Amino acid sequence: MPSLGGLLKKRRTKDSQDLGKPDSQNHDGSGASMQPASHSPPQHSGTGTHENAASIDNVIHQEQQKQERVTKGKYSQEDFELQRTLGTGSFGRVHLVQSNHNHRFYAMKVLKKAQVVKMKQIEHTNDERRMLNRVRHPFLVTLWGTWQDSRNLYMVMDFVEGGELFSLLRKSQRFPNPVAKFYAAEVTLALEYLHAHQIIYRDLKPENLLLDRHGHLKITDFGFAKDVPDITWTLCGTPDYLAPEVVSSKGYNKSVDWWSLGILIFEMLCGFTPFWDSGSPVKIYENILRGKIKYPPYLHTDAVDLLSQLITSDLTKRLGNLHGGPSDVKNHAWFAEVTWDRLARKDIDAPYIPPIRGGQGDASQYDKYPEETEHYGQEGEDPYGHLFPDF
Ligand SMILES: Nc1ncnc2c1ncn2[C@@H]1O[C@H](COP(=O)(O)OP(=O)(O)OP(=O)(O)O)[C@@H](O)[C@H]1O
Ligand SMILES: [Mg+2]
Repeated sequence: MPSLGGLLKKRRTKDSQDLGKPDSQNHDGSGASMQPASHSPPQHSGTGTHENAASIDNVIHQEQQKQERVTKGKYSQEDFELQRTLGTGSFGRVHLVQSNHNHRFYAMKVLKKAQVVKMKQIEHTNDERRMLNRVRHPFLVTLWGTWQDSRNLYMVMDFVEGGELFSLLRKSQRFPNPVAKFYAAEVTLALEYLHAHQIIYRDLKPENLLLDRHGHLKITDFGFAKDVPDITWTLCGTPDYLAPEVVSSKGYNKSVDWWSLGILIFEMLCGFTPFWDSGSPVKIYENILRGKIKYPPYLHTDAVDLLSQLITSDLTKRLGNLHGGPSDVKNHAWFAEVTWDRLARKDIDAPYIPPIRGGQGDASQYDKYPEETEHYGQEGEDPYGHLFPDF
């Protein structure tokens, strides 16, 4: 077992070595910006305890309220009151903001255009906005609007109040089997939805999984999300003529998300990732290519069986990527007690309810970051604005 040194406690940012590959442009024309929600969030009677039973069998009937998105044009910085920073990433900073109109709280992601251009992230950033705009699912963050000024791009999303799964996992060291199963199952449903919409996510990790006020997951950060055509070989013409990369689908296939689901489940159950190395990313890549995994003896045999079928370099054996698709994952023995339709309705009690005051801009579950003094909403020379036509 690798030692849990300081490195593991740090949030992991994107690796730029993954960024060089040119992705093709494929606009869907969905450029409308949204009015922030006028609906009330569901009320909840959660007690805010840290020690809820780690069971996915408890059932509650939470009132489901439909989130209607109204498209009413663009926003500007004047529509929102800036509050503290919630998180920083490789390319952006996310602030808590309060709407000057409905006084609700939102998360505003700010990306510096010059930085995006310098890091060759134009395509990915436009994709992030388009993908987020297209998706609507209980376990995916909702995008309400975007705009840009001369320096920055802005995306306003739901403020997901319960903090990162990353923080909870590091506090807990590792999750008991049922807890890991609950979060893994919600991620599985989100991946199933994305893949059904021809979107690969490509950045699954606990830092991008947020807990809502009821303890359910919301996936944020669509910075690497990408629409891909369905290249499952069963559907793609005459097999004799397919290129090897289509058959093995390296890089751009949905299969990459199932691999990372395996890594996520491993990390939740063990507290560290299977190929982790304190040395350098290169060492980690070597470990990945070697593909040798030591499963700790405390793992349930069903978990080991599922993990070995997800974290396999053999794409003809990787669960989720086979003829049965996501159903193969959902029907695996490790998930036997999950009632999928109830889970999809959030009709299953979450194992942990974040201790927050809902709806009040309570950001106590997020780490504190040094604040930036840059004044948003500046006018002036804008050499990069044309590169981001949808914002
Ligand atoms: N909707 C949200 N509500 C609350 N916090 C959020 C929200 N979206 C993002 N955050 C916080 O901001 C952090 C950074 O956001 P995000 O992951 O989108 O940025 P990024 O630059 O793409 O990150 P990275 O490169 O590190 O993956 C998240 O890890 C999370 O802590
Ligand atoms: Mg992120």
